Amino acid sequence: MKHLLSAGDLSRDEATLILDTAEQLLSVAQRPIKKLPTLRGRTIVNLFFEDSTRTRISFEAAAKRLSADVINFSAKGSSVSKGESLKDTALTLQAMGADAVVIRHHASGAPHRLATSEWTKGAVVNAGDGTHEHPTQALLDAFTMRSRLGDLAGKNVTIVGDVLHSRVARSNALLLDTLGANVTLVAPPTLLPVGVETWPVETSYDLDASLEKADAVMMLRVQRERMNASFFPSAREYSRRYGLDVARMNRLPDHALVLHPGPMNRGMEINADVADSDRSVIVEQVTNGVAVRMAVLYLLLGGATEGESA
Ligand code: CP
Repeated sequence: MKHLLSAGDLSRDEATLILDTAEQLLSVAQRPIKKLPTLRGRTIVNLFFEDSTRTRISFEAAAKRLSADVINFSAKGSSVSKGESLKDTALTLQAMGADAVVIRHHASGAPHRLATSEWTKGAVVNAGDGTHEHPTQALLDAFTMRSRLGDLAGKNVTIVGDVLHSRVARSNALLLDTLGANVTLVAPPTLLPVGVETWPVETSYDLDASLEKADAVMMLRVQRERMNASFFPSAREYSRRYGLDVARMNRLPDHALVLHPGPMNRGMEINADVADSDRSVIVEQVTNGVAVRMAVLYLLLGGATEGESA
């Protein structure tokens, strides 16, 4: 594995290796002294053209816990606002010696463009590109479900909401299929993407019909910033048909988990009492995100500088 661009690129063995490595690293992250010397001397660039809280901070924490040097780049306040291109930005950062670039970009395909260019020599990790993919989110979601439910083969995962604009939904559908889980996407017809019939999922417009068999329910944020204002669903109507409230949560099997990648629209796709309930693993997802991203960086960079044996 040279880059991590799509959850669909991972074989079952590769995905399992990342999850198993993350499991070992989670215990490091929970120790009083959290650092490993593994990536000492390596430089990781966080190249964020879109806003982020969880992903950016957890990649930074992951790199630091592996003793890498971290350069954080945010398009806001940079020369991107003067019109500098992705190419020139990447070349500038490469000139400072990047061993890996973690990129979030509003354009679907930007990480792929970077990985197949001469602009950077290092590993490229997709930290979310447009409405396309967010593979490390899917990995941390799978890690969280696996740690609570065991092997995901045969488990039923229901993903609910704004699938149309969700890179999380696509990456989860691909990865969960690879791991043998059954995925049902539940959304209003207007929030399912064209071509969803080619995804390895079932689709439904009826949330209530898919609750009783779910081992996990993942609620998606309604991404108003990617919608034309005239397409905004009314919060009340959306919540009535597709929101997870306490009454719906109580219809889930006792062991079923509630996930959300964040940030949440409390009161729209998820009720505050559900988000803060015992079934919610939303905070755990964030904790696990650091260990999963440590595993990805460790496996991509191999723990040794060029010319050294791993
Ligand atoms: N889940 C997720 O990608 O969150 P951020 O946008 O805060 O990184």
